[in-house]
Amino acid sequence: MGNDKFKRYTVTAALPYTNGPVHIGHLAGVYIPADIYVRFLRSTGKDVVFVCGSDEHGVPITLKAKKEGVSPQEVVDKYHKIIGDSFRDFGIAFNIYHRTSSETHHDTASGFFKTLYDKGVFKEEETEQYFDEKAGAFLADRYIIGTCPKCSNEEAYGDQCEKCGSTLSPTELINPRSTLSGAQPVLRTTKNWFLPLDTMQPQIEAYIDAHKDWKPNVYGQCKSWLSGGLNPRAMTRDLDWGVKVPVEGADGKVLYVWFDAPIGYISGTKDLCDANLSEEKKKEYYFNESLKPKDSWETYWYAEDTKLVHFIGKDNIVFHCIIFPAMLMAHGSFQLADNVPANEFLNLEGDKISTSRNWAVWLHEYLQDFPDKQDVLRYVLTATAPETKDNDFTWKDFQARNNNELVAIFGNFVNRVLVLSHKYFDGKVMMGSAFTETDLQVMAELKEYPSKIAASIEQYRFREALSEFMSLARMGNKYLADEEPWKLIKTDEERVKTILNIGLQIASNLAILAQPFLPFSAQKLFDMLNMDVQDWDKAGTLDLLPLGHQLNEASLLFEKIEDAEIEAQIQRLMDSKKSNEQASMKVEEAKPNVSFEQFSSMDIRIGTILEAEKVAKTKKLLKLKIDTGIDQRTIVSGIAEYFEPEQIIGKQVSVLINLEPREIKGILSQGMILMAENPDGTLSFVAPESVFVNGSTVR
Ligand code: MF3
Ligand code: ZN
Repeated sequence: MGNDKFKRYTVTAALPYTNGPVHIGHLAGVYIPADIYVRFLRSTGKDVVFVCGSDEHGVPITLKAKKEGVSPQEVVDKYHKIIGDSFRDFGIAFNIYHRTSSETHHDTASGFFKTLYDKGVFKEEETEQYFDEKAGAFLADRYIIGTCPKCSNEEAYGDQCEKCGSTLSPTELINPRSTLSGAQPVLRTTKNWFLPLDTMQPQIEAYIDAHKDWKPNVYGQCKSWLSGGLNPRAMTRDLDWGVKVPVEGADGKVLYVWFDAPIGYISGTKDLCDANLSEEKKKEYYFNESLKPKDSWETYWYAEDTKLVHFIGKDNIVFHCIIFPAMLMAHGSFQLADNVPANEFLNLEGDKISTSRNWAVWLHEYLQDFPDKQDVLRYVLTATAPETKDNDFTWKDFQARNNNELVAIFGNFVNRVLVLSHKYFDGKVMMGSAFTETDLQVMAELKEYPSKIAASIEQYRFREALSEFMSLARMGNKYLADEEPWKLIKTDEERVKTILNIGLQIASNLAILAQPFLPFSAQKLFDMLNMDVQDWDKAGTLDLLPLGHQLNEASLLFEKIEDAEIEAQIQRLMDSKKSNEQASMKVEEAKPNVSFEQFSSMDIRIGTILEAEKVAKTKKLLKLKIDTGIDQRTIVSGIAEYFEPEQIIGKQVSVLINLEPREIKGILSQGMILMAENPDGTLSFVAPESVFVNGSTVR
C-alpha cells in the first residue's frame, strides 16, 4: 500500500468546544471520517495514534457558564462527559479523549508559548481594545457583538459574523455592545503578544504550495488567505479563563484559545504515551487500553516518518493550515500536517444546524431513541457526508438508506447465505461441484474490492469508499438471486454447496471490509460467521472460511425502520421550530402603572357559557349567554373567527361584569370575556384549571 515514506500516523480530530453536546454535523464533518481513516489504518497493521479531547477554554464556555449561573469548570466537566460518552457510544476509536483544562495541557501550552517568547518570535504591542466599564473587563472575541461591516447583521461577534462568515476584529464592528452588560464599551490600551504572520508569510506560502494535493476547498481557502496578505495576530487575551500567559507583565491575561487548543493534540499525545498516568486519569480521558502506543510522544510529533493528519470542519481551516503550522515552524522540531481533510457543513432538513435554535439531532438523544443503531447513523452520515459541498440530512433519507440499502442489500445478502447454510447443511461450510464461469467472474471481481476501497480511503474519499463497499454487497446479493440455490437444492445439491461457499466467502470479506465504516455490524458478522477478526490484507480471497467450518446462528444485521419512528423525529424538530418561533415573537410594550384602587374597581368573575351563536351578517361576533353566578346575561364577543359556537358551550371563562353595557349590532352586551392573546394572534380563554363555582372572583 502507498505512503511507504511513513512509518506511523498521528491523526487528530478537532477538539470540540465543551459548551454543549455534539450533534450529527460534528459526526459527519469530522469524527466519522477520522474514525474510518484510523480504523482502516489499524486494520492494515499501521502504528496510529488517534487523538482528540475537549476544547475547554475560550469565550463560548465562559458565556455558557454565565448563562447557566455556574462556574466555567462545572460547564466543561459536564460536557466533557456528555461528549466523551457520545463518541465512545458511536465507536469513535480515539486512543485518548483528553482535556485542555488538564495540568499536562496547561504545562505544555504554557511551555510552548515560553519557547516562542524566549526565541523572540512574538511582537509585543500595545493596542486599543474595547473595555466594559460596568463589568470591569476587556471584551475579546465573543464578548462583544455589533453590526457586521460587511453584511449589516446586527448580531455579529467580535471575531466572526456567523451570517456572512467573515472574520472580524472587535474594532470593525459598527455600534458595538458588550455581551456581559449590554453597555457600550470604551477603548482602552492593553498589551498583547502577536505572532508575526506577516513576516512568516513566505515560509507559510511555501508549505501550502507544497500541498497542492489537498482537497480543493482546503487549498483554495488557504490561497485566498495568503493572497489577502497575512497580518500579525494576537496570541494573548485579556480574560481570566484559560492558560495563564507565562511571562512577566501579563497579569490577567491568558493564551488565545486558538493558540492553546491545537497544542491540545500534543498534550493529549503526551498523556497517552505516559506510562505512569494514573488509572483515574485514564478513565477521565477514555483511554483505550487495547490501543497502547508503540512509541514516545516525541516520535509521534517530531519524527520525519510520522504522518500528521488533521480532521476538521471548514470553519477551522485557517487555524490548522496557517496559524498552527506557523506556531510549529516558529517553535522548531515539529512535523507539519501532511494533510488537513476538512469537510463542508451538514444541514438538517434544509436548514442550518444550530445549537441555539435547537435545530440539531443530538447524539445522546439519538441513542436514546435508536439504541444499537449506531451503525445506521454512521452509514447515512458517511453516504451523505459533506465532502465537497454542504449537504443535507433528512429523516426520510435516513429511513430510505436504512431500509433500501442496509436492510435490503447488505443485511439481506448476509442473512440469506447464513440461513440457507443452516437449512441445507447444518451451518457447515461445504464445497461441491466445480466453479462455473459466473463463479470465476464473481471471484475475480471480489479480488479487486479491498484495494479499490483502500485507495479511496487513503485519498480521504470516504463516500466513494463506502459506495464501493456496498457494490460488493450488491454483487453478493445479485449472485444469490441469479443462482437461486433455493430452487436448485431439489435437483443439484452439489451446486448449492458451491454457491453457498462463495456466498459465505463474500460475507466474510464484507465483515473485514465493513470494519472501518460499520464497526458494530462488522463485529456482529464476524460472530455469526464464527470467525476471528481479520486484518484488511486477508480480504480479497476465497479461503477465509475452511471446509467444514461451523457457523453460528444467524440474526438480523439491520432492521427495518417504520414510518412512525421517523415521523416522531420529524415532529420533534417541528416542535423545536415552533418553540423557537414563539420565543422570538415580540410581546406588546408595557402600559403605564395603575393604582390598586383602579385595579380592584374591576369586578371579574368566573362564569359558564350557556349558549353561543353567530351574530347574523358579521364575521367576528358571537352572541353568548353567560351564567355569572349572579345572573344570566348576554355578552357579544369578537371571537367568532377562532371558536365554533358548539365547541365552547359549557366552558368556563373569566368575565368583566361591571363594564358599562353597550349596544353592538342591536344587541345589548353586558360585560366582556377576558382572552389571552399569543403574539401570533391565537386566542385562549382565561379560565380556572378545574371547574369553579360560577361567580368566583378573579383578583
Ligand atoms: N473548538 C474548535 C471548534 O469547535 C476546534 C478546535 S480544534 C483545535 O471549532 F485544534 F484547536 F483543537
Ligand atoms: Zn456579516
